[in-house]
Amino acid sequence: MNKLVEKLNQLKEKSEILIILGSGLNEFLKATEIIDSLALEKVLDVKTDKSIGHVGIIYLVKVKDKYVYILSGRKHYYENPSDKTMRSIIQAFAYLGIKTLIVSNAAGGMNESFKPGDIMIIDDHINMLGRNPLVGDNNNDLGPRFVDMSEAYDKNYRNLIDQISKDLAIDIKHGIYMSYLGPSYETPAEIKAFRMLGGDAIGMSTVPEVIVARHASIKVLGISIITNMASGISKEKLSHEDVLKTSQKSLSRFSSLLTSFLKHI
Ligand code: HPA
Repeated sequence: MNKLVEKLNQLKEKSEILIILGSGLNEFLKATEIIDSLALEKVLDVKTDKSIGHVGIIYLVKVKDKYVYILSGRKHYYENPSDKTMRSIIQAFAYLGIKTLIVSNAAGGMNESFKPGDIMIIDDHINMLGRNPLVGDNNNDLGPRFVDMSEAYDKNYRNLIDQISKDLAIDIKHGIYMSYLGPSYETPAEIKAFRMLGGDAIGMSTVPEVIVARHASIKVLGISIITNMASGISKEKLSHEDVLKTSQKSLSRFSSLLTSFLKHI
């Protein structure tokens, strides 16, 4: 058993759910009771980049009566395109026996009917990273070499969140998430091309995590916070500070949806 699995096993309680918090969403932790935590730099060779709001801590929290793991501070391919940290983390949780992954992120809106602050449930994705986290040796004990991606984002979870959004009267959108390597934002010409390909929102994360999770048959719910309109759609220049600010404005709706979702699964 590798060291990360061993350390995760030592956390005070077990859970079958992992949440990955996207940019500006760390404060969801305030809606939880923190039971235990593990700093990733103690176990993995990760330098955490605090300047961009990324932290790199795994929390074990309680939401209502349910234990949940939360990863605050993911790794992105723009930091190092051959880095295997996210694969290691998700696979360690797979060995631990998690059944559900909830991924969240900040994303630019490409669909013109969206506006900053909207919450988009990810129905499917388009991988424009030019890489796949499963390249290399296959962990045969977790899943097959060739992974079915025909329902990457669980249909029942999407139906459940629709029901919850109605019950709570919180408006949500649905759409296709497109992943872009970054770290530069896209040009207006790229966004025009990506819209033609069918993307509704664009960001620099999530897709690798979902691929690794699906390989291990972990069910996925994906939530994007639309923090800005993508390049060229609005005249505003893009900055990470604005992304964080808008993301935080959606936090209470995000927290309500997520808390209720956790109660129902
Ligand atoms: N593009 C890529 N990633 C992003 C964006 C965007 O417009 N907004 C937040 N993350």
